[in-house]
Amino acid sequence: MLNKIYDWVDERLDITPIWRDIADHEVPEHVNPAHHFSAFIYCFGGLTFFVTVIQILSGMFLTMYYTPDIENAWKSVYYLQNEVAFGEIVRGMHHWGASLVIVMMFLHTLRVFFTGSYKKPRELNWMVGVMIFIVMLGLGFTGYLLPWDMKALFATKVGIEIAASVPFIGEWIKILLAGDATILGAQTLTRFFAIHVFFLPAALLGLLAAHFIMIRRQGISGPL
Ligand code: HEM
Repeated sequence: MLNKIYDWVDERLDITPIWRDIADHEVPEHVNPAHHFSAFIYCFGGLTFFVTVIQILSGMFLTMYYTPDIENAWKSVYYLQNEVAFGEIVRGMHHWGASLVIVMMFLHTLRVFFTGSYKKPRELNWMVGVMIFIVMLGLGFTGYLLPWDMKALFATKVGIEIAASVPFIGEWIKILLAGDATILGAQTLTRFFAIHVFFLPAALLGLLAAHFIMIRRQGISGPL
């Protein structure tokens, strides 16, 4: 049955070469932990991607309950955590995943650095990586405010004040982030929500696509 559906689609769209290109791509020995155990350091990029996918999926489910206004944000998180079936697990995945993804990305960056993989011809991909790094930190910063509890408020206040201390453009960054509030208010939460669930994820998807396309075109670096 499945075979028939596959053949039907393949006859019309010629999809076999697309997945063959991925499935038949040989993994070089020097990045395969089955050959040399130390090659596990080459798995960090894939693991970072895995946790990123978990973040996107768990985050999508969180938005089904989360309410981005200062009256209801904390209550909605409390409700999700304590009343909704599996709410605690989904929130827990997103909460711990947020730290894990930064740790994995950092390990991946260290691997790329110490194997010298940022050198010619991969300079552009390194630069895309730096942009990904900034976007991921931005996701962490904006997500932290969303539960609207004391920890979130005070941490974000400090964060915005640091941004405001940037020479020349600091005040603009502050207005951009905080909205019309003196430091933290209703508009700040709405903005952080928009940045956290629309702007940065969209940027991340584009950057990751560029990252992966370049990896496929250039192949993996090494062996050392
Ligand atoms: C969400 C974050 C990221 C994901 C999911 C990701 C994913 C990957 C994957 C799957 C690879 C293939 C090789 C490997 O797994 O080690 C790779 C390679 C690479 N990544 Fe990333 N990456 C991320 C962030 C970064 C950052 C922050 C940098 C640098 C600042 C970076 C720079 C590179 C470079 C230069 C390569 C090519 C390495 C080579 O050919 O040896 N990546 N990335």
